[in-house]
Amino acid sequence: MSAISLYAKASPDFASKLAHTQQLLRNAAQLYAPLTQASSLGAEDMVITHLLHTLGIESEIFVLNTGKLHAETLDLLEIVKKHYGQERAVRVYEPDATQAAHFEHRHGEQAMYDSIALRKQCCDIRKMQPLEKALAGKKGWITGLRREQSNTRAEVAEVEQQALRTKVNPLAAWTWGEVWHYIATQAVPYNALHDQFYPSIGCAPCTRAISLGEDFRSGRWWWEDEKAKECGLHVDAAPKIIPIKEIA
Ligand code: ADX
Ligand code: SF4
Repeated sequence: MSAISLYAKASPDFASKLAHTQQLLRNAAQLYAPLTQASSLGAEDMVITHLLHTLGIESEIFVLNTGKLHAETLDLLEIVKKHYGQERAVRVYEPDATQAAHFEHRHGEQAMYDSIALRKQCCDIRKMQPLEKALAGKKGWITGLRREQSNTRAEVAEVEQQALRTKVNPLAAWTWGEVWHYIATQAVPYNALHDQFYPSIGCAPCTRAISLGEDFRSGRWWWEDEKAKECGLHVDAAPKIIPIKEIA
């Protein structure tokens, strides 16, 4: 069953929500240049990439290729480069090969299942350190975080002032149904794993398909507690939330 037929559902206020998101992105491009989009190549990020493209907004896109991504995700990366990479840079950041090899040699390929500390160490080498490089010199970055994704994300703001730059979460208020409505109506390319019951997609060893009725992120780090289930990309000590009227 396709993800579109499973999930796409426009809400009555979708048109105004979309207009608001478009304006938010236009303003972000003016206020926070140089700007970059963090893309995991998941459904939300594909919507944002498509919005940047259709609005002609100047922003790079970056993908952290952890070395552990699914083949389907890597296939989509090639499509993104071809489809959207004509008019903007699509940058791919990889972990330091020596550090990654050393970690695996010492702790094994399955280390992420042995303890939270080792899982976080793997995320640090494969995601956090490359993230630092991706964000160097950028004034703003765009993510696909949505409030609906988990309890820990329920308060996500559309714009957050972080210590070094501004984080923009244009889909913070979007529902999963709206994400898929947009993908369906705009013919946005998406990860084939979404058609196989993978709503949230990360690295292959740490992501699995979910069953009907399970939580959105229950296929991510499924052996860990709900509260531990962040890799660090979105853990910010005390973000200052910028009221939306200041930038809209
Ligand atoms: S995670 O922290 O648990 O991995 P999640 O997969 O929900 O995050 O994605 C949330 C947002 O983080 C994505 O919309 C994207 O902006 C960013 N992100 C996550 N993984 C990557 C990645 N591999 N490369 C670039 N950005 C990413
Ligand atoms: Fe390693 Fe899993 Fe973190 Fe990917 S999500 S960096 S494989 S621990």
